[in-house]
Amino acid sequence: MSSATGLLADIASVGADRRRGGYSRHGFDPAELELREWFGAEAARRGLDVTTDHNGTLWAWWGSPGRDAVVTGSHLDSVPGGGAFDGPLGVVSALGAVDLLRDRGFTPRRPFAIAVFAEEEGGRFGVPCLGSRLSTGSLSPDAARALRDPGGTSLAEAVAAAGLDPARLGPADLSSVGVFVELHVEQGRGLTVPVGVASSILAHGRWRFTFTGEGNHAGATPVEDRRDPMVPASALVLAARRAARDGARATVGRIVPTPGGTNVIASSVDVWLDARAADTPRTRAVVDEITAAARAAAADEGCEVAVTEESYGDTVHFDPGLRDELAAVLGGVPALPTGAGHDAGVLAAHVPAAMLFVRNPTGISHAPAEFAEPDDCEAGVAALATALEHLAG
Ligand code: GLV
Ligand code: MN
Ligand code: MN
Repeated sequence: MSSATGLLADIASVGADRRRGGYSRHGFDPAELELREWFGAEAARRGLDVTTDHNGTLWAWWGSPGRDAVVTGSHLDSVPGGGAFDGPLGVVSALGAVDLLRDRGFTPRRPFAIAVFAEEEGGRFGVPCLGSRLSTGSLSPDAARALRDPGGTSLAEAVAAAGLDPARLGPADLSSVGVFVELHVEQGRGLTVPVGVASSILAHGRWRFTFTGEGNHAGATPVEDRRDPMVPASALVLAARRAARDGARATVGRIVPTPGGTNVIASSVDVWLDARAADTPRTRAVVDEITAAARAAAADEGCEVAVTEESYGDTVHFDPGLRDELAAVLGGVPALPTGAGHDAGVLAAHVPAAMLFVRNPTGISHAPAEFAEPDDCEAGVAALATALEHLAG
């Protein structure tokens, strides 16, 4: 069977984004659906039994499905113009680990599955870890069904088009998952050896600020007569940089003016803030500071601002016993924290969960330049196989 890098090469053209570079693969869009098909075929080729649950999570069972399973996997979607590794590396490594375990003559003594979660990045519907949040009950099905993509398609419509029943979105019976291990490319420069384990994830969330002013003519409207929502939107960007102190992070990566014309003063501007810090009080303090600056700037310009929290997740401390056990089984690999969110982090509040990281030589992620050396990817597959053998043996 193919190596992890060989499997990544097999999907290299799917969802390639010619305009932005990298990949744009989003929950239930044609690229992600093609990758789901591809995964189903690869799993079937290995004799795994593939099912899709009511939240669109793919399950590939090695042997009979059952409770208390050892589960590994990740996601196939990307951010807009994302890299090749964030998500898919965990999926191809899971397939590669099954191949390695088979080569070693290993048969799991516990139920064993690969899981692929839908819309982990929130690149289409805005809420990250959509599949795992629905399954754990941390996102209400009504709220999920009402989410809309930038083109106006609701999640309910998108899942229906993919053959799922939107009425059935919602909590899953997690007793099938005894332990979840997600392998992922490291997303900073924190790992100086090929493989490590995760210790924690920063608290993080997303907020939408909608500034409303008065649409008007860029040439005919004197500056003193304007109520231009782009002005407080810009102030928010600068406030985010100021508020991100002492290890906190605050990012504006998406601004959408309406109507969006070069010679048009916008009537409204949507700005999305991503904020992260060590814990909830510190994250809330960052967001409160930015919100106060945004409100003051909106008032100065005669604009209104509405703030909506679109998602939030508290700090994750991965199960220390499991983390140390896996680090030891892997020969004493280091444990490191991350600022990136993951399905394993969402599941960690409900089932024992762990993560393996594969070294990222540049630390770049969520960008086309994201990279991991082929040898490190294969070391990741071997480490994942060893971890799964330990847990399922
Ligand atoms: C997902 O990768 C995130 O951290 O936003
Ligand atoms: Mn990501
Ligand atoms: Mn990811």
